[in-house]
Amino acid sequence: MCGIVGCLGREDAQEVIVKGLKTLEYRGYDSAGVAIHNGEFINRSRARGKLVNLEKKLNEEPIRGNLGIGHTRWATHGPATEKNAHPHMIGGVSVVHNGIIENYAELRDELIAGGSEIYSDTDTELIAHLINIKVKQTNDLLTAVKEVIPRLQGAYAVLVLSERHPDEMVAFTNGPPLLVGFAEKSFIVASDMLAIVPYTKNIAYLSENEVVHIQKDSYKFYSNDLKPIDKKIEEISWSAEQVEKSGYPYYMLKEIFEQPRSMAKSLEPYINIETQSIEMPALESYVSDIKSLEQIYIVSCGTSFYSGMVGEYLLEKMSGVSCKVDIASEFRYRSPKLVKNSLLIVISQSGETADTLAALRLAKEQGVRTLSLCNVQHSSMDRESDIQLYMNAGVEIGVASTKAFICSLSILNLLAGYIAKVNGNMKPEEERALVKSLLATPSHMESVLTYDKFFAEAAERLKDYKGFLYLGRGVNFPIALEGALKLKELAYMHAEGYAAGEMKHGPLALIDEQMAVVMIAPKDDLYDKAISNLETAKARGAQVISIGTVNDERLKNLSINFLSIPEVPWNINPFLAVIPLQLLSLHVASALGHDVDQPRNLAKSVTVE
Ligand code: G6P
Repeated sequence: MCGIVGCLGREDAQEVIVKGLKTLEYRGYDSAGVAIHNGEFINRSRARGKLVNLEKKLNEEPIRGNLGIGHTRWATHGPATEKNAHPHMIGGVSVVHNGIIENYAELRDELIAGGSEIYSDTDTELIAHLINIKVKQTNDLLTAVKEVIPRLQGAYAVLVLSERHPDEMVAFTNGPPLLVGFAEKSFIVASDMLAIVPYTKNIAYLSENEVVHIQKDSYKFYSNDLKPIDKKIEEISWSAEQVEKSGYPYYMLKEIFEQPRSMAKSLEPYINIETQSIEMPALESYVSDIKSLEQIYIVSCGTSFYSGMVGEYLLEKMSGVSCKVDIASEFRYRSPKLVKNSLLIVISQSGETADTLAALRLAKEQGVRTLSLCNVQHSSMDRESDIQLYMNAGVEIGVASTKAFICSLSILNLLAGYIAKVNGNMKPEEERALVKSLLATPSHMESVLTYDKFFAEAAERLKDYKGFLYLGRGVNFPIALEGALKLKELAYMHAEGYAAGEMKHGPLALIDEQMAVVMIAPKDDLYDKAISNLETAKARGAQVISIGTVNDERLKNLSINFLSIPEVPWNINPFLAVIPLQLLSLHVASALGHDVDQPRNLAKSVTVE
């Protein structure tokens, strides 16, 4: 986690870095800092808390110079204090770092034994010490970095400046993302393209164990041992406008409202409109493997885990192939023995989540075919998987994922349909019906978005409940889990998602007038059972807010608030049911005065285990 930005070649390095950090704040917001070389000295400014605190400081005391680095922190080693904020600066060497140095204790002991004074609790400061020692010995920044890299164990992406080298920046990574943008007469290095797109669309990605040395008018990429490597400069498709809030008070609200359009875009590459059929060129060369597929695994985290759970229902019901979903942080620790003729799918908005990436690597080690469903193209998972599918959700900035969830559901529907078609489980007319229903979903979503107004008003009342219990069955069970996660993330309220049929095994005891029950029960083959479960809760005083199919008087009569969604096939219900839940969490959080886009203690891209 943490966001890092470096800039060389622009007079306004401070402005570029701070603007870049703003787009990267989703990666952490415990503290922030910049270090800027003015040709003679490196000056530094750091502040605890969100970036706005650093901005205030810099407004009062700007730092001039055309070479600099900056950081927004998600604390791992040491609390969120100014002392622990990056950049760390030792001698004339200044460093920002994203990741964790695992041999931190050993390096710290060694440096102390060698007479170094340690000022912070961070692992990053140790990198600055080590490079500083080598710069003094060699007077060459690149060589110094090369000599230090083998000493560092763990995952890290690092930017380095040296006072003695006023026109140089060195960046290296062993895992976490790092990109170089090539703008006019300047270079921008960052953890994410969001910090780069306002200046250029031409970028290069650093792979694991790679180094880039940037000088005034030139750059060179190397392997860790300083062997020069050729690097392809690519053009990215995301635009600077996608990084704006476009008049919405929160990125998350903008992203919720973008969902119909995002979903339509996500379908485009995989649908032949004329024939109303599913096309997945990335899978075409694997058709014979798909025909003999015995097992599908889905591994992911957070909201992507819940889309994986929906995927499990879709894949098993449509394709008939056995499917198993795992939480990525647990997956490898149960030493899974993967079935030979299987496919392992990782779902990840960022494509960088450390645990999900580790699951992908484990599958590859066991010789299992891997498929990634990511939003961020060129991300680690995208690069390392055998088969790539994309969410095509566009830039998602709100820490709580919304449109990426919707888009992963749409691709999972198509993937389930594609596998079903290939292995003979789906007739052409069924395929056309699936495509038709997916194409019609964005306009249904528009109608559900009108609940924004309802929740804006209801939030004042809802915020006073002591907790929320979200219930659903079948494909709506993961939606209940996702609803509860959203409320926890944003409103910091106790919320639980449950399979409605499990209520009688414990959670019924939680029910009283202060506990809101959010029931997701659209008309599908589990509807009657879901309603019986709800009746049981209602008989014990549950305060029910329900989401159900339009004109469902039965459900309406059991509820204080009944939110109707259009009548759609079972596999489409999750798209519509999740939207009111996103809006509920956002408005309750806002009514409680919380920062919707940057919930406390969380970060969007979790690149640590
Ligand atoms: C973090 C984010 C969640 C996200 C999860 C998985 O916890 O706050 O919104 O769902 O990571 O991220 P991924 O990028 O792998 O989908």
